Amino acid sequence: MPLPRCEITNAHTTLSARQPKAALRTGSNRRHWLWKGCFMLAIGATIGSLCAQRAPLAQGVDDVERLREVIHCEDCHQEIAREWRASGHARAWTNPAYRAFIAENPASEETCSPCHAPKIILSAGLNATPELRDAARERGVDCIACHADRDFVMHGPFQTRAPHKTQKDKRYRSVQACLPCHGQGRWFNQVDDWRASRYARLGITCQTCHMPRIERPSVQHWALPDVPRRATRRHTFLGGHDRELVRSAASLQVQIDDGAALVTVVNSATGHALPGAGWRAVVLDVVVEDERGTTVLHRRHVFDLDVHDNRLKPGERRDFRYALPIETGLVKAKLMYKLFSEWPDDKGMIMATREIRFQAR
Ligand code: HEC
Ligand code: HEC
Ligand code: HEC
Ligand code: HEC
Ligand code: HEC
Repeated sequence: MPLPRCEITNAHTTLSARQPKAALRTGSNRRHWLWKGCFMLAIGATIGSLCAQRAPLAQGVDDVERLREVIHCEDCHQEIAREWRASGHARAWTNPAYRAFIAENPASEETCSPCHAPKIILSAGLNATPELRDAARERGVDCIACHADRDFVMHGPFQTRAPHKTQKDKRYRSVQACLPCHGQGRWFNQVDDWRASRYARLGITCQTCHMPRIERPSVQHWALPDVPRRATRRHTFLGGHDRELVRSAASLQVQIDDGAALVTVVNSATGHALPGAGWRAVVLDVVVEDERGTTVLHRRHVFDLDVHDNRLKPGERRDFRYALPIETGLVKAKLMYKLFSEWPDDKGMIMATREIRFQAR
């Protein structure tokens, strides 16, 4: 009996709905178990559909970019997919701010979208900006873009057995997985600052902060119950929209020192410049009030990349000293994070506030 080819194949590759591992282990007749495994899988909705997809693939999906039409990673990697869908990567191309810019400057689709709707990053190579994808741009930076190579092999951090080909690739544990889009030029670059920081020396990677670790199986599918629990990573890629992450980024202190207010801002927990992205801004706002609450001094400092990059480097501490114009009163300091530097301050997110009273001795 010929082996039923419950496999997604093309000239280079086999993307097979391989039988569950248990079947392989117990089966003395490997072919029989292959068949049985395949049959079992075929009744599973997803995997069944994988098998059913053999035809179109065999008919010439020889381009990995078309894999999106036939394989739905989210059918098996359900939790990872849920996390990704809520992330900036999923919205990279549909993002309203992004669409608005492209609508005004249609020619920039070609120059801007390579990172917002990329072809697989493994084809251009991890040191280069990706190429612009033709199809399914609305999927933004998706699973296939990050994980697949030209031969339909999914690169990842582990040694695994899966219904598709996999390859352990240590670059996925490192900053190299982010480099194609986050290590380019001046505006889209967290990598260079990170490399010069103590985080790099300590092996604290982009993933440590942006893909928190969680022990779980990487697959949730009833037909694949044997997938082991592993130290996986959340695909949330939280950034400037996440209050908790933003509040953790910096520390703020206020002291009274010899007739002056000493305000200190430290980039205490960001692995790169703060703010991380080009059009974000961090604003320090300091007010001194007298006993009646009247403002007697107001100072404002903006940290951004805009004209001259004055953002806080990783670990950097900045002190601001203001001579107190009165003897008794209150110093109030506020640190804010703005998604767009031109926004008014009241649209900003509060990162920290500090207050200290002072009086003549
Ligand atoms: C921006 C690139 C990127 C995108 C998009 C992405 N991943 Fe990942 N993925 C990674 C990196 C990097 C790792 C390894 C992280 C590590 O171990 O440090 C990883 C790890 C994994 C793993 C191994 C388990 C784990 O969590 O470590 C699986 C499975 C996986 N990804 C599946 C997916 C699926 C499915 C999608 C789409 C829903 C997806 N990935 C989207 C970069 C990405
Ligand atoms: C080299 C890859 C790359 C290119 C090219 C690129 N971007 Fe981006 N874009 C990114 C990355 C990475 C981010 C995430 C934040 C950052 O690093 O600045 C981003 C974020 C954005 C955001 C912010 C979305 C938000 O909600 O905060 C906008 C808007 C944007 N890009 C517009 C553009 C425009 C317009 C162009 C073309 C002029 C462009 N990008 C070209 C990689 C790129
Ligand atoms: C039919 C179910 C199924 C589908 C569909 C599926 N995967 Fe997987 N995948 C698995 C299983 C099972 C593993 C092994 C998990 C383990 O042992 O931790 C795996 C492992 C992986 C890994 C980890 C590789 C490694 O060596 O670290 C990545 C990355 C991955 N898949 C990406 C994808 C992407 C991208 C897609 C969509 C193109 C996809 N998978 C579709 C079942 C599936
Ligand atoms: C193929 C290009 C590409 C790769 C590879 C990539 N990113 Fe991104 N990333 C983007 C783009 C584009 C955006 C902007 C999305 C948007 O419009 O908000 C972004 C946004 C982000 C954000 C901000 C999300 C938000 O909500 O504001 C974080 C954090 C991030 N990426 C982390 C990573 C990490 C960590 C890696 C490596 C594991 C990585 N990225 C790999 C293109 C990429
Ligand atoms: C020690 C933790 C840490 C490390 C390591 C780290 N980051 Fe961040 N990252 C943060 C924090 C906190 C923020 C939010 C504040 C800000 O915008 O800088 C952030 C912000 C970002 C943003 C901007 C998101 C936005 O919406 O504007 C991007 C993009 C990003 N990081 C990518 C990376 C990449 C790529 C690496 C690896 C080179 C990396 N990060 C390493 C903590 C870290």
